[in-house]
Amino acid sequence: MTIRKKPEVIWHDTTISSLHRANLLNQVPFILWFTGLSASGKSTLANFVEKKLFLMNYKTYLLDGDNVRHGLNKDLGFNEQSRIENIRRIGEVSKLFLDSGVIVLTAFISPFKSDRHLARSLVKKKQFIEVFIDASLETCEKRDPKGMYLKARNGEISNFTGISSPYESPENPELHIINNEITLDDASNQIIEYLIKEKYINKEGV
Ligand code: ADX
Repeated sequence: MTIRKKPEVIWHDTTISSLHRANLLNQVPFILWFTGLSASGKSTLANFVEKKLFLMNYKTYLLDGDNVRHGLNKDLGFNEQSRIENIRRIGEVSKLFLDSGVIVLTAFISPFKSDRHLARSLVKKKQFIEVFIDASLETCEKRDPKGMYLKARNGEISNFTGISSPYESPENPELHIINNEITLDDASNQIIEYLIKEKYINKEGV
C-alpha cells in the first residue's frame, strides 16, 4: 500500500512554532527510539528512563508498542505490511509530539531498517536517537514474560520476530545497550549520560 498526500491539500503555517512551544517548556525536544526483540527490555528501560527524565522536570511522553496497539494501531497485525504501517504511524505521531515541544520515547520492535530510517527522516538529524536494546534471542526466549516465544515455537503465533519473522539489527545506532546481564539502573544511566554529554539535557534538570 502506497500512501500519498493529495495534491489539493496544502500546508497551513501556524503562528506558534515548535520553537515557541519548546521554549515555553524550557527544553529541547528529541526522540529516543528504542528498538530490539520482544522481551529485550525496551519497554522496561524506556519506562525507567522516562521516570528519570520526569524527575528532572523534563516533559516527556512514552509511546509503547503493546499500548499503542490497544488504540490507534489496534487495526494492525504483525504481517510485513502491518508492521510497516505501525512504524510509519509512530514516526508521524512522534513528529507531532516533537512539534509540541515534548521529549518522546518510543518502544517498538521496529524490526525493519527501512522503517526506522523513514521515522528518522521525518525529523532533523539531531532529533532522532536510535537506541538498540541488544539482547540475544536466547536470552529473550529464556525470559519469555508473556509465553509468546513458546507459542511461536509451537506454531501458535505466526510472523513472530526472531522466530518466523526477521529482526534487522541497527548498524549505526546512536546508543547500543547490550542488555543480557546489565542492571536497569546501569542501562538507564548510559542513556542519561549520553543525553547530558550531547547536551540534550542538563545534569541539573530543568
Ligand atoms: S512491531 O514489530 O510492529 O514494531 P510492536 O512493538 O508494535 O511490533 O509490538 C510488539 C509486541 O506485540 C510484542 O511485545 C508482543 O507482546 C506482541 N506480539 C504479538 N504478536 C507478535 C508477533 N508476531 N511478533 C512480535 N510481537 C508480537
